Amino acid sequence: MSFEKIRPTRRGLMKGALATVTASTVPTGWAIAQARPLKVGLMLPYSGTFAKLGENITFAVEMLIAEKGGKLGGREVQIIKLDDESKPENAPQNTDRLVKRDQVDVLIGTVHSGVQMGIHKVVRETGTLTIVPNAGANAVTRALCAKNVFRTSFTNWQPAYGMGLALGAKGVKKAAWITWDYAAGNEAGEGFKEGLAKHGGEVVRTLTLKFPDTNFQPLLAQIPGLGVEAVGVFFAGGGAVQFVKEYKSAGIQVPLCGSGFLTEGVLGAQGAAAEGIETALHYGDNLDNARDKVFRKAFQDRTQREADVYAVQGYDAAQLLAVGIEAVKGNIEDEANLYKAMRSAKIESPRGPISMSASQEIVHNIYLRRAEGGLNKVVGIAAPALADPGTGCKL
Ligand code: BEZ
Repeated sequence: MSFEKIRPTRRGLMKGALATVTASTVPTGWAIAQARPLKVGLMLPYSGTFAKLGENITFAVEMLIAEKGGKLGGREVQIIKLDDESKPENAPQNTDRLVKRDQVDVLIGTVHSGVQMGIHKVVRETGTLTIVPNAGANAVTRALCAKNVFRTSFTNWQPAYGMGLALGAKGVKKAAWITWDYAAGNEAGEGFKEGLAKHGGEVVRTLTLKFPDTNFQPLLAQIPGLGVEAVGVFFAGGGAVQFVKEYKSAGIQVPLCGSGFLTEGVLGAQGAAAEGIETALHYGDNLDNARDKVFRKAFQDRTQREADVYAVQGYDAAQLLAVGIEAVKGNIEDEANLYKAMRSAKIESPRGPISMSASQEIVHNIYLRRAEGGLNKVVGIAAPALADPGTGCKL
């Protein structure tokens, strides 16, 4: 399946619509707007270490829209995709292309926290409705929260905090943290540390490398000498596959754990090296809920891929959008009612019970999972109904 790069397809909002009507039948601005498709920009990684994450989000968004007959709130949906390549330096320009040139009505993006901050700067200025389907940058729903920005994934703090709590509850007192040195890994590290500290444990050493480097050997070589009982990490996508394999090959005896992205959507590629790894995340492969079963089958039938957390987050982004657009019958200009409906949306997520916090962030269970036989099996709840603190958000 290929993902098109963005093309200059802007047809001119008013121009195109007006060209088809005569002066005597000139409709109102609202009628014109409703006659054109709802433009949904997907700004996601379709190349690089996070490519599969972006693809699964896309497939799930498209699946929900297809389930709705291709329309939301009575309007045809036009999707415009842009490969952000997980490059923060290109994010403002890429966001401008979607928001200002293509004039998307809604932006769904992205995966990488650094890119998200670039998106966020633009959409806070333009007021574009934005739904974050993965990137966990804490600031998006904390001090820099905005009424036009919703997130259906997590904050970087949430899963790692759950992992730290679970580890601390087992009596681990000294741990190390290893990550790519950027917002997601560093903020997850803070969460891990905080969770561990609740039970009197501490992170005695943090080791980092640049995103998306995979030169793990110098870091792995240090672990046996650290005197730690566990190693917590944040890696995802292709980098996570390599890290887990190299950790195993290095013969390190210290148990490996982390934010669930470490083993999410990549267990097939990690193979036996992942067996037994414990992680914490807001999804698992054996949740006992009917919604998840239907979702997983539909996703697998449509894409020939197993569903994972990225697919769930993309699906929920589209579900949330559908609730909002349907509430205003396609009139996305009716911001007050659009946001009100989205803030109070009752969505049935495949991940289990969710709600939306005051900072427009998802509140959900953080599950403790163990990788077994190619599945991230839920073995407990590390943190039930965990809300991000939303520190500094005034909405
Ligand atoms: C992030 O950059 O926020 C992120 C990327 C992949 C998985 C989870 C978080």
